[in-house]
Amino acid sequence: MNDSLTSGVEFNPNEPTQPEVEIDMEGGVSPYSPPDAYNPPSKEEEIAYEDMHPFLQEMMDEHNEYTKELNAFEATIAMIEGGKVDREIDERLRQFFAFLDDKVVTHNQEEEKYLFAAISKKMTDTGDHSKTDDSFNVIDILEDDHVKAIQMSAVSFNMFALFSRIPDEKSRFIILDVALNQAKELLELLKVHIFREDTIIFPYAQRNFTNEELTQIQQKTKGEKE
Ligand SMILES: [Fe+2]
Ligand SMILES: [Fe+2]
Repeated sequence: MNDSLTSGVEFNPNEPTQPEVEIDMEGGVSPYSPPDAYNPPSKEEEIAYEDMHPFLQEMMDEHNEYTKELNAFEATIAMIEGGKVDREIDERLRQFFAFLDDKVVTHNQEEEKYLFAAISKKMTDTGDHSKTDDSFNVIDILEDDHVKAIQMSAVSFNMFALFSRIPDEKSRFIILDVALNQAKELLELLKVHIFREDTIIFPYAQRNFTNEELTQIQQKTKGEKE
């Protein structure tokens, strides 16, 4: 069986070639940002920031800091797409990836170590997990996001770095395209991820754990840091 994408299509050299199609991440449906991502059917009533435990507030504060960095990164991408490739862009990219490496990775580890573990256990104990697969819950999705984010940022970072070193213009722009697409997917992934934690997971923790339990999780998490 020939399952090549071009099977059955004959190349006619006299036919005008198709204009190059820009990949529009905004308009299309991305697997990292499904249409209902920001309006999940199971969304419970929100809890005000002031009513959250200080540990959860701290995690939300970190999310706000990340969102600022993500917005700056989004602006950088728009600048590159507008044709700007210079020292300033280089510096902006460097600063964003350094931030990811430094702050976001630590934040993710802190979430996973005790908070996610405790939530996962609570969900399993109370049956608050997916009906289709007993061992699968929203925590698995969020942990998976953490891994994907590292992979995507590695690809994007390396492609941006490679772009500046390739002399052949055509190859350079193919590489830049890969870098930009990975960067956009990373952005979408992190934005939805933050939204899910702020609106689903942290409120779940607030509702299902006592203040003492949350303080314990906070102490264990922060104790590891020193
Ligand atoms: Fe996370
Ligand atoms: Fe987070």
